Amino acid sequence: MTNTLIIGGSSGMGLALARTMLADGMDVTIAGRSADRLAAAQAELAGHGQVRTVPADIGREQDVARLFDQVERVDHVAVTAADATGVYGRTAGIATTAARAIIDIKLLGAWLVGKYAAGRVTGSITYTSGINAYRPNGSNTIVAAANGALASLASGLALELAPVRVNVISPGWVDTPIWNQIGMDKQAAFADLAGRLPARRIGTPDDIARAFVSLIRNEYITATVLHVDGGHRLT
Ligand SMILES: NC(=O)c1ccc[n+]([C@@H]2O[C@H](COP(=O)([O-])OP(=O)(O)OC[C@H]3O[C@@H](n4cnc5c(N)ncnc54)[C@H](OP(=O)(O)O)[C@@H]3O)[C@@H](O)[C@H]2O)c1
Repeated sequence: MTNTLIIGGSSGMGLALARTMLADGMDVTIAGRSADRLAAAQAELAGHGQVRTVPADIGREQDVARLFDQVERVDHVAVTAADATGVYGRTAGIATTAARAIIDIKLLGAWLVGKYAAGRVTGSITYTSGINAYRPNGSNTIVAAANGALASLASGLALELAPVRVNVISPGWVDTPIWNQIGMDKQAAFADLAGRLPARRIGTPDDIARAFVSLIRNEYITATVLHVDGGHRLT
């Protein structure tokens, strides 16, 4: 049976991916900081297959080391972890602690996964960046920088960890709980964007889950950024 570790699997895109992998007969391990969120996700996924939970903060090296010790060997790793608290707004108004925190989670956390994956991951690692790396809007600069750097990280790791494949998915706007941290009027923002997107709608967690599965399955894709954004880069 194929085992997939989803760091960020207790919510949003990661939870949708867990559901999709289970439906395909694979077992999953989901990791995140909150034991309560992990337990709620495990309960939601109950009856669909084998789900293991491991509390871990991807920004803490000891947590990532312990996580990989516990899973020992894993076929695929998907990283969807992010906490957007305090990082949206003009740069002059962003606290440096918040900027460091998002770099710790999205970039250094991703690097830590690469560091501890060697010899333990056999198939692929897929990271999640985001549209703001390619279509910045003046209110998400530090997040855009962290997301953009993931493409370089994945290319380097694709060489270092080969034949393990390392890729990045760049989602557009997707309706998930992360929007509660961003402090925008979500419904108004979604309505405005949806009409301008070539896809004419906001993304769903399942749109992204299906993209993860395609990267996990296709053994000839590595060092690639897959844009799953409904054409958002063209708006
Ligand atoms: N939703 C969008 O519109 C959008 C657009 C572009 C890119 N993205 C990116 O897509 C990815 C998935 O986002 P989502 O929308 O699915 O968010 P979400 O619903 O808020 O889920 C985030 C997940 O990450 C976990 N997490 C947060 N910080 C963590 C940490 N330090 N260590 C381990 N786990 C952590 C959360 O659990 P805990 O809080 O319990 O740790 C949760 O399970 C993120 O990288 C985000 O930046 C999202």
